[in-house]
Amino acid sequence: MPRIVSLVSRKASAASRIVSLVTEAAFILLFTLMTCSAWGDEIAPSVLSGNHAMLRLNTAHKYLLLPVEERTDNDRLTVIVGGRAEQTLNVRLATTKADYYVPLELSAWQGKDALLDLHISGSGRDVKALSDIALWKLLKYSDTFDTSNRERLRPLYHHTPLYGWMNDPNGMFYAGGKWHLYYQYNPYGSLWENMSWGHAVSSDLVHWKEEPIALRPDALGTVFSGSCVVDSANVSGYGAGAVLAFYTAAGESQTQCVAVSRDGGMTFTRYPGNPVITGDVPDFRDPKVFRDEERGRWGLVLAAGQEVRFYASEDLLHWRETGRFGKGYGSHGGVWECPDMVRMKVRGTGESKWLLIVNIGDGGPNGGSATQYFIGDFDGSRFVPEGRPEDVHWMDYGKDHYATVTFSGAPDGRHVALAWMSNWQYANAVPTRQYRSANSIARDLSLVKRDGSTALCVEPAPEMLRARKPATKQLTTACEITAALRGSGTITFSNAGGENLRLIVDSKAGTITLDRTRSAIPAINDRYASRITAPLSGGRYNLRLFLDRTSLEVFDADGTMAMTNIIFPTAPYTDLSVTGSVKTRIYPID
Ligand code: FRU
Repeated sequence: MPRIVSLVSRKASAASRIVSLVTEAAFILLFTLMTCSAWGDEIAPSVLSGNHAMLRLNTAHKYLLLPVEERTDNDRLTVIVGGRAEQTLNVRLATTKADYYVPLELSAWQGKDALLDLHISGSGRDVKALSDIALWKLLKYSDTFDTSNRERLRPLYHHTPLYGWMNDPNGMFYAGGKWHLYYQYNPYGSLWENMSWGHAVSSDLVHWKEEPIALRPDALGTVFSGSCVVDSANVSGYGAGAVLAFYTAAGESQTQCVAVSRDGGMTFTRYPGNPVITGDVPDFRDPKVFRDEERGRWGLVLAAGQEVRFYASEDLLHWRETGRFGKGYGSHGGVWECPDMVRMKVRGTGESKWLLIVNIGDGGPNGGSATQYFIGDFDGSRFVPEGRPEDVHWMDYGKDHYATVTFSGAPDGRHVALAWMSNWQYANAVPTRQYRSANSIARDLSLVKRDGSTALCVEPAPEMLRARKPATKQLTTACEITAALRGSGTITFSNAGGENLRLIVDSKAGTITLDRTRSAIPAINDRYASRITAPLSGGRYNLRLFLDRTSLEVFDADGTMAMTNIIFPTAPYTDLSVTGSVKTRIYPID
């Protein structure tokens, strides 16, 4: 086309040049319109009622970018190919404006006729009103999706998803020098929905690389929490080294299912015999598979209402129930979720014990969700905890430490745990948009004898020491601060906006308190702003504080107390001040 124009214009007068330029512009416009409609880039929905529309998809593109408006209700989208429902998802599609976009991947249907069926929520609307919503102008095709960070509040050395909602860490395992972390993930919005397993990999537990989504919902349900093990002995018949994922399919009922990976955990195929475990209670979920070496078999623990149930298997595929635990033990302030069973040596003794982790949806030491644990003996069926039934042990006293479980197959006899750093009291309301929620730093768990009974030590993973940069005088937004205190003292972080975050050690009361009431972008909700207290014994304390823009994790260096909280200052803290006998050092981390 430009060649024709140039031939015509060579001998033309000034007037005819203008004419030819206009002709060229008209030609380009016509060409663009023709190619656009030939490619189907135009979004032309067929609106069939006040709630229902259909859209023929142009699968030549990689993505259809869906505009999300968080204050709207979920709409139900179904991709139909050849008359079959290939994918269904719930999205809060924009009706007035887009808060952000999420990508619907079209690559799987490239070259096929695909239809998007949209059930748009809302009442009292007619065809005309649905045709007029902003959605149709905002939807767009694209071959790229920009995941570069747009969040000022995104932490630097904690794992976060590139975009979308995240809750529990799932399926964590270590193999071949890599730590695999899957997580409860909504790829279609930054609020809880469409549970899938996101995936990230790290070689140092500090820097994470995001990988493609590992598990998406199927006809049995969305993919709730669970675990992975490496089947080195090939008991499942899927080949030595196959990675088996155990998760809850959340459909009409919650059932336990298996998916198998033969490429080291990158891609999974469903086991055709799913579900492998069914139950008789509505809250029946979060299978954690563990090696039961004493009996030469595999064990599985899951949460059922307010107790846990144990199962056993020789081949990882066929499971039988062996026992239950929980009635009358520990805290019952909420539903029991995400259990873990870990066989651990007791340091300095020849003894081994079982650590049973039970996350609990409500009733934590400072309100809302939290992680309790029991230490005891297990004979494959019966778990018998030490101490009195009414004793309650918290792994972390903060408000933002939940769904904690350990990596399977950690090297050197280590037991490494990660927690989701949020609380169901306000997780959906925290002030980020591109993504929601981060995971905690990795913690090493161990058992020691203290005052005649067995106690749990929670310490930052040794990788965190290696992540330290040389000490600086100036507080940075992402750092570790060590604080040595003699007796009572306070440590205050403040920013240019006059906000502060105070950590108060009261050696008389034997407590440590984090006051985050003046440290929040307002209006998360009334259960967010709070003074959070944990017991702290002794008169001299060595604390390790991990600050990373939106979280502060506090550890007593001897492993007796951990307290994890998220914080949302409107500007970064630039000043650190203390009262009392407190010596601090600041180590940046990035
Ligand atoms: C815990 C939990 C799990 C469940 C998952 C769903 O936070 O409620 O019990 O599997 O989240 O996302």
